[in-house]
Amino acid sequence: MERGEELATVLSSQVSGDAAGVAVARTVREMAAAAAALSRLIGRPPLEGRLGAAHGGANSDGDKQRRLDMVAEDMFSSALREAGVAAYLSEEVEEPAILDETGALAVAIDPLDGSSNIDVNAPIGTIFSIFPMPPEALAEPALAFRQKGRAQLAAGYFVYGPQTSLVISFGAGVQLFVLDRETDLFILVEPQIVIPPDNAEYAINASNYRHWHEPMKAYIDDCVKGEEGPRGRNFNMRWIASMVADTYRIFMRGGIFLYPADAREGYEQGRLRLLYEANPVAFLAEQAGGAATDGIDPILDRTPHAPHQRVPFIMGSIEKVERVRSYYLDTAPPWQAAPLFGRRGLLRT
Ligand code: AHG
Ligand code: MN
Ligand code: MN
Repeated sequence: MERGEELATVLSSQVSGDAAGVAVARTVREMAAAAAALSRLIGRPPLEGRLGAAHGGANSDGDKQRRLDMVAEDMFSSALREAGVAAYLSEEVEEPAILDETGALAVAIDPLDGSSNIDVNAPIGTIFSIFPMPPEALAEPALAFRQKGRAQLAAGYFVYGPQTSLVISFGAGVQLFVLDRETDLFILVEPQIVIPPDNAEYAINASNYRHWHEPMKAYIDDCVKGEEGPRGRNFNMRWIASMVADTYRIFMRGGIFLYPADAREGYEQGRLRLLYEANPVAFLAEQAGGAATDGIDPILDRTPHAPHQRVPFIMGSIEKVERVRSYYLDTAPPWQAAPLFGRRGLLRT
């Protein structure tokens, strides 16, 4: 694998020759073509109306759907059908569905991440997670998405920003490709991304401060205190509100992304969705030498129970994610519902 190679070449060397490997390569090829087409559409003058205009509907989470959410949904669901994917789950559909009964894979996708940034010319993206298709899921598609994140065969995201890029892992490191707009090919730029273990940047929506639980408040308080606080150093905050863009920055230069659980109704498990946001990014983060947890436990060890379930999400440089964990372990509940059975409780097992 060498810089300058195109995606198709890298695919042939990175995936295994068995049915699942061949299917992964075909799926990624089809998604890359969809992403290149979507990137072109996003780059065009929006003379037919804003791509961020309300579409009229809402997704299963109650989020307002925008025109581009639906265009991206159509493009990626068609691409995955074309690729012969068996089970399909998207942020924009209510229930998992079977696309091709003969397929070897299950794919969960956020077709358009960062919807609030569509009309402000900030980066947006597409996140995907690829699992093997369990045979019993043909009769009950939801079963395809009850697998732990560790079972992912591949995961990645496209970012439509100043460059259109693809960050992807097949389970042996993380590769970065950038779309050459002249040829419409994704070109390998970095064969092995390693998240730097430390960096002074953190990403969190600080307007939610009053809703956070104690450990999160304490962690951010200590960052804000800078040189005068217990950390003895100054920090910098960045929040793009497109997880793909914040994640991309962290993969390039380190740092931490936090979307914790908080006290708002509906945010008991944070905001981000396990199957098509947290799992794929967690897979990439671990493959790049970083970490991703719900504050304490690795995201990839969770067994999902519902297609659109949310999860608190702390991801980035390994030292930073570890430090957040220590804040959670060192702070007494109320941030846990059942103190007696909590990690610090008498009955901890
Ligand atoms: P989506 O556009 O798919 O709903 O996801 C948006 C996500 C994520 O990308 C971003 O980091 C976060 O929601 C922003 O949340 P806030 O608006 O609460 O800051
Ligand atoms: Mn999203
Ligand atoms: Mn989305």
